[in-house]
Amino acid sequence: MKFISISDAMKKGSGKVAVRGWIYRERGSNEFKFIVLRDSSEVIQCVLKKEKFKEQWKEIDSLKVESSLEIEGMIKKDKRAPTDYEISVSKLKIIGSSGEFPIQKSLNEELLGDRRHLWLRSRKMSAILKIRSSYVQAREEFFKKEGFYRFDAPILQPTQSEGGSTVFEVKYYNQKMYLAQTWQLYGEAAIFSLEKVYNFSPTFRAEKSKTSRHLSEFWMAETEVAWWKLDEITEFAKKEIKYCIEKTAKERAEEFRHLGIDYKKILETARKKWPTIKYRRALEILKTKDKMNVAFGKDLRTIEEEKLMKHFDTPVVVTHYPKEVMAFYKPEDPKKSDEALCFDMLAPNGTEIVGGSERSLDVKEMSDRLKKEGENPNDYQFYFDLRKYGSVPHSGYGVGVERVLQWICGLDNIKDTIPFPRTMLRWNP
Ligand code: 4AD
Ligand code: MG
Repeated sequence: MKFISISDAMKKGSGKVAVRGWIYRERGSNEFKFIVLRDSSEVIQCVLKKEKFKEQWKEIDSLKVESSLEIEGMIKKDKRAPTDYEISVSKLKIIGSSGEFPIQKSLNEELLGDRRHLWLRSRKMSAILKIRSSYVQAREEFFKKEGFYRFDAPILQPTQSEGGSTVFEVKYYNQKMYLAQTWQLYGEAAIFSLEKVYNFSPTFRAEKSKTSRHLSEFWMAETEVAWWKLDEITEFAKKEIKYCIEKTAKERAEEFRHLGIDYKKILETARKKWPTIKYRRALEILKTKDKMNVAFGKDLRTIEEEKLMKHFDTPVVVTHYPKEVMAFYKPEDPKKSDEALCFDMLAPNGTEIVGGSERSLDVKEMSDRLKKEGENPNDYQFYFDLRKYGSVPHSGYGVGVERVLQWICGLDNIKDTIPFPRTMLRWNP
């Protein structure tokens, strides 16, 4: 018989079916064995009668959780079964037996982390992994529709770009190299050839703090566009995130339900208007509504972002941060020299999910900034060349995909949004 997925078997609803998967739960009695079988699509209760299996019974009776099986039997609706269907098994083949599975009851976070390779099989992780897959696929679709080219850049890079304090150094033959902190500088080279580009790639930050929103390795989804200014790029960033969360919510309603999230709430959020405010306005809100005094010239910290976002029920774009604390490539606003033409998008849970800007075209100014940060501007020649040969205004941004997933999945910690998290305290398996 041809194997079908458990969810297809449930759709069929009656008659003979063949399915295969892993034992999610099992219990037995003298006469029966009840197995809840799971595959990547669903779980289903299977009932085995001792008298039908005779000499195979001993083997069946000793089956443990996570053993892999092929079964054949009759499926029927049964309200008492956990997912409303039951298979009365006529044939069973054990494919891989399992020892005592090391994840039985709820283990603490540390032990679950050590057993991550096995924990991926949990319903919670498979729900999140499916949501992640849908999100990434939706984004690919979005950029194709919008007429962008996918452009891939090296991960091994000769310079830092987002501040030397979070850069990972790598021995590269007899030289020093760095793991990518961003794709941006290469994305900027690409716009002179392709105009509208995007990518999705591993990104590295040596974050020396243990927070619930920082990973050392994460996947940044970046975009760079020729000719566009700040207002166009911020509206486009909203359009991207709205499209992706709406598509993901529709596709993964069931998985969101499993995580305790009503997918309709995500749809509602995606259909609202998302405000854009200036950094100076954010400071006013913090001052008047939260009695928090933040001096102009400081980047917003977690606590301030969280307080600010309590006043909104959608993501908010905050623009015009103080020039001084921004990365070297963020240009000053010609209308207000202490502000930069840049933005962050903050999610309702108070985390920054997007960072972007127009790009400076002023080589002298960028060189001075780099020198101040202890960098050698000569190492950035290729980047400065882009300003010498037919320079055009351009803008871009990077989305922290794990941050977006953490927000829409309602997770306290970012680490479950990525299969094998890397943080300061966790780097295996
Ligand atoms: O704001 P960031 O640092 O911006 C850049 O790197 C720009 N070069 C992007 C660009 O303009 N092309 O990072 C962008 C986003 C942040 O808003 C955040 O969502 C995410 O990347 N991010 C992290 N996510 C998880 N763990 C970390 N350590 C992160 N650091 C940044
Ligand atoms: Mg940022």
